[in-house]
Amino acid sequence: MCGIVGYIGNRLAVPVLIDGLKRLEYRGYDSAGIAILEGDKIEVIKTKGKVSDLANMVEKKKFMANLGIAHTRWATHGEPNSINAHPHSDCSGDIVLVHNGIIENYLSLKKYLEEKGHTFKSDTDTEVLTHLIEENMKDCKSDSFTDVLFQSLAEVQGTYGLAIINKNYPDSLFIARKGSPILIGKGKDEYIVASDVAAVLRYTREIIYLEDGEIAEINRDGYHVLNSVNDEVQKKVQQISWNLEMIEKNGYDHFMLKEIHEQKNSLENTIRGRLNYEEGTARLDGLIDYIDDLKNAPRIVITACGTSWHAALIGEYLIEEFAGIPVEVEYASEFRYRSPIINEGDIVFVISQSGETADTLGALREAKRKGAIVLGICNVVGSTIARETDAGVYIHAGPEIGVASTKAFTSQVMVLIMIALMLGRMKNLPLERGRNIVNALREIPKLVEDVLKNDRKIKELAKILSNHNNALYLGRGYNFPVALEGALKLKEISYIHAEGYPAAEMKHGPIALIDEHMPTIVIATKDAIYEKIVSNVQEVKARGGTVISIINREDTKIRELSDEVIEVPHTITPLTPIVNVIPLQLLAYYVAIERGCNVDQPRNLAKSVTVE
Ligand code: M6R
Repeated sequence: MCGIVGYIGNRLAVPVLIDGLKRLEYRGYDSAGIAILEGDKIEVIKTKGKVSDLANMVEKKKFMANLGIAHTRWATHGEPNSINAHPHSDCSGDIVLVHNGIIENYLSLKKYLEEKGHTFKSDTDTEVLTHLIEENMKDCKSDSFTDVLFQSLAEVQGTYGLAIINKNYPDSLFIARKGSPILIGKGKDEYIVASDVAAVLRYTREIIYLEDGEIAEINRDGYHVLNSVNDEVQKKVQQISWNLEMIEKNGYDHFMLKEIHEQKNSLENTIRGRLNYEEGTARLDGLIDYIDDLKNAPRIVITACGTSWHAALIGEYLIEEFAGIPVEVEYASEFRYRSPIINEGDIVFVISQSGETADTLGALREAKRKGAIVLGICNVVGSTIARETDAGVYIHAGPEIGVASTKAFTSQVMVLIMIALMLGRMKNLPLERGRNIVNALREIPKLVEDVLKNDRKIKELAKILSNHNNALYLGRGYNFPVALEGALKLKEISYIHAEGYPAAEMKHGPIALIDEHMPTIVIATKDAIYEKIVSNVQEVKARGGTVISIINREDTKIRELSDEVIEVPHTITPLTPIVNVIPLQLLAYYVAIERGCNVDQPRNLAKSVTVE
């Protein structure tokens, strides 16, 4: 998705802006651009392609500016080219801005502005904003540019995170937010604005997040944030614990590989200080104010997108098994638009790594409108979802840069296990069972490390799988969502078509696809329905299919039936998703490498999907 960076201070703006854009590359983009106030002129440079191409273009010019804005664009309106790339300017070239989000009424605004004599250069929705502001400047009686911004943005339908410079306000950088994140990084006599904290971490860890409807004017010596009714608001400065090293590759070829390998540590961080063996339970301070509501909830709804939705499905199995509370899981994009029923006492959980996913945020707001208590499970501290939920749990996985989510998934599942355990122990889960689960949870980081050390076999299998165009992933019970997640990982980064299915569902349709060209990856670790999975593997083999199974080391039956196996250590059934997903992440990664795919920036995908 698009990325915004802005700078005002005493350094040269260009290196800060280019560095910021490079830190946002992981979000996915197709073109990039920069605008700086150089002397008394705003210079705009844009290009299709990579930030490095843009850097080559601007570095030659030796700009001295210390005020500027920059952008990576992920095309929505108008093809990816240098004209449609941001920044966009008004007719005079005095007002220049970058925008994340979508202006829904841009066609009617464009018509109105063309009638007023404005000339448009691009096909984007964004460009209407520059001309609208220019038009409103003409009639505005106030000298305040923020007044003009308020007036203009009131005419806009849609979402925006904006950074704006105006030649006539040479000491100010303006930002605005509605539905698309924008933040201020507070340095010493300098400010870096960005749509994502990764762009500012090199300079500061003091962050001010704008809320919807707010506009800020930033000078070298301070900032003013105005709320939606144009009153100044005092904003909390949040300290971010992430550091620069955490958002660098540290010797790995890709962020995804680094993040897969970080999972021993990220899982340790997720459980740190939260397990209590004596009581056989977990303590999640973020939920403390809602413990009674949770315990008495007649129903829990969990909503999320993508990988987070897969974690939610595992949460459903966990909470129903441990705590006996009925759970429903729903795609956030469906939940928000289909009049979901929320009864008194129902609790809604939203799960989001980024905390900025537009569909999940929409579902959160819909659930709140319906009167539900909404609790979050997020990774990014201070993100919009973390701020707008009533309370929640951070997964503490550390920054996840790879577009394909890996360590966030395992930490989300870990948090869901702890929530289920905590609720179970408040209800009917016996102490001994609770203690067993606590012990098993403590073992998990080691088991994950064990799987990670044995990736030789997975690399070999990746060579075979990379020659296929389709793959089927099967799992049952807790490992059905793992099958979905394995298939999603493969699709996302290797572009091989893959489907996840509950293994028993195969015979109701997908079995028609089985032949020697359709490899089937079966998650077949030992549990109560192991024998059923044995039958499912036999069904595939009987039809000439190739089977790659994830099995426990001591397994013999499925080992014999399968063409290839990947061994994983044993854990208790509810915890198997965390261990079993690791080889599937690695498999997807190595297949993508075999196929020469860009793992960290897969085509058409964005790290955090901030548009609907
Ligand atoms: O940041 P979120 O967890 O809300 O993101 C949800 C999905 O967009 C995300 O999980 C997506 O499916 C990933 N690319 C999966 O690898």
